[in-house]
Amino acid sequence: MAEAVGKPGFSMGAHTLWIPMEMFAHNRRRLCERLRANREVPSCSVVLLQGGEGINLYASDVEYLFQQEAYFQWMFGVREPGFYGAVDVDTGRSILFIPRLPAEYAVWMGHIATPEEIRCRYDVDEVRYVDEIADVLRNMEPSVLLTLSGVNTDSNLTNREAAFDGISNFEVNNSLLYPEIAECRVIKSPMEIEVIRYSNRISSEAHIQVMRKVREGMKEYQCEAVFLQHAYFVGGCRHASYTCICGSGENGSVLHYGHAAAPNDKTIRDGDMCLFDMGVSYCGYTSDITCSFPANGKFSRDQKIIYNAVLKANQAVMNTAKPGVSWVEMHKLANRVMLQELADNGILCGDVDDMLEAGLGAVFQPHGLGHLMGLDVHDVGGYLPGTPQRPQEAGVNKLRTARVLEQGMVLTIEPGCYFIDALLDQALANPNQARFLVPEAIERFRGFGGVRIEDDVLVTETGVENLTRVPRTVEAIEAVMAAGRTEENVELPKEFPQGKF
Ligand code: GLY
Ligand code: MN
Ligand code: MN
Repeated sequence: MAEAVGKPGFSMGAHTLWIPMEMFAHNRRRLCERLRANREVPSCSVVLLQGGEGINLYASDVEYLFQQEAYFQWMFGVREPGFYGAVDVDTGRSILFIPRLPAEYAVWMGHIATPEEIRCRYDVDEVRYVDEIADVLRNMEPSVLLTLSGVNTDSNLTNREAAFDGISNFEVNNSLLYPEIAECRVIKSPMEIEVIRYSNRISSEAHIQVMRKVREGMKEYQCEAVFLQHAYFVGGCRHASYTCICGSGENGSVLHYGHAAAPNDKTIRDGDMCLFDMGVSYCGYTSDITCSFPANGKFSRDQKIIYNAVLKANQAVMNTAKPGVSWVEMHKLANRVMLQELADNGILCGDVDDMLEAGLGAVFQPHGLGHLMGLDVHDVGGYLPGTPQRPQEAGVNKLRTARVLEQGMVLTIEPGCYFIDALLDQALANPNQARFLVPEAIERFRGFGGVRIEDDVLVTETGVENLTRVPRTVEAIEAVMAAGRTEENVELPKEFPQGKF
């Protein structure tokens, strides 16, 4: 935390972005305006949110590194666990409730901030203790407490609703707030966009570092380490937005590779294609970038075919997306462009409309084109009441939103092409799909892995602005990688002396 020109804000040092607490005050004002415009919300309503709690590793006394709950972060920008926050909808007056920490905290955890220090840190109107919450709220005489309850349409999990001793003495409504605050999060403010621009800038630079330093013989996780080191050391980004996916060779076709059972631990080989999907967050705001490139720095003919097919799909969407355009149509556009390229290069045969009809898009790209992004990497608001609901068709049914684009949305554009044995076998066994596959070509690409090109974009008044700054053409990637190969190699650890067991 730091101050710039005497104002409260968030920063990880002079080399990182300073964010004014005004960004969160502005978010609160946006929410209150929306709620006041909603005729179902009675006057004298008070929004009440409960922040995140520290979580222990099973029954041990080790805690996971805390990350604030995203709605609470959006409203207050609070970095500590155990808070509540209230906002009077009519006046906008904001109150934080902080835990009363034991004196021992000062010994083990450091200075116990006073309510006044917390008030100055987060620039709210008042700070009280959590054990005073019932009394403070009673004195506000709210007609209703608006609490947050809603199902996240990506995880199907329901967020934790605020609760405190004595809440049963209040009128509570837990349905009005969710769609309004989620919608506020969908449209980013200019300040929020600057923060997402920053996390994208740092993640982009970190991806470029990986491209420069990757060598055959390295482990995939050593590339993950290069990425995270740069993002934290240079950008002050302490949290990855999601588990890093560093798939080389056939691992590039494992969509969520990098998890505990497949922990980026393959040795990268000459001739492998790398598909590295990594992003970090800053002050909670995420980035989500995938770079695909040949491990040895030079695309083979086949690698170039697949890469350019995906790039063409990415660029077609980039050039077409704008306010008023349906995201479902963008997904179909990407599928169409990519399948046409595969057909033009002898991997598929037949008419692309017929291929789409037969569901071939989902054989090569089983995931959706992209998603809303913000404080959550798969951000909220994809399927809200009054917006188009999830389509049923194979392929598009995986989309995390079917919305029409609006200025101020931030989304990923992430077409991909993967050679996944299970899906290829299924397609080959299905005459309606097999008729489009050129068997020798399909066999040639088994084990190839995949290519994904994922950019984060802001929807502007007239189109989209790409916030991701990484080399994207074959030539640009080869140039960056060639330059990296003129630099000294990262010193790899020596073989560990075995024989103890
Ligand atoms: N990295 C997760 C995704 O691309 O959606
Ligand atoms: Mn991604
Ligand atoms: Mn993504």
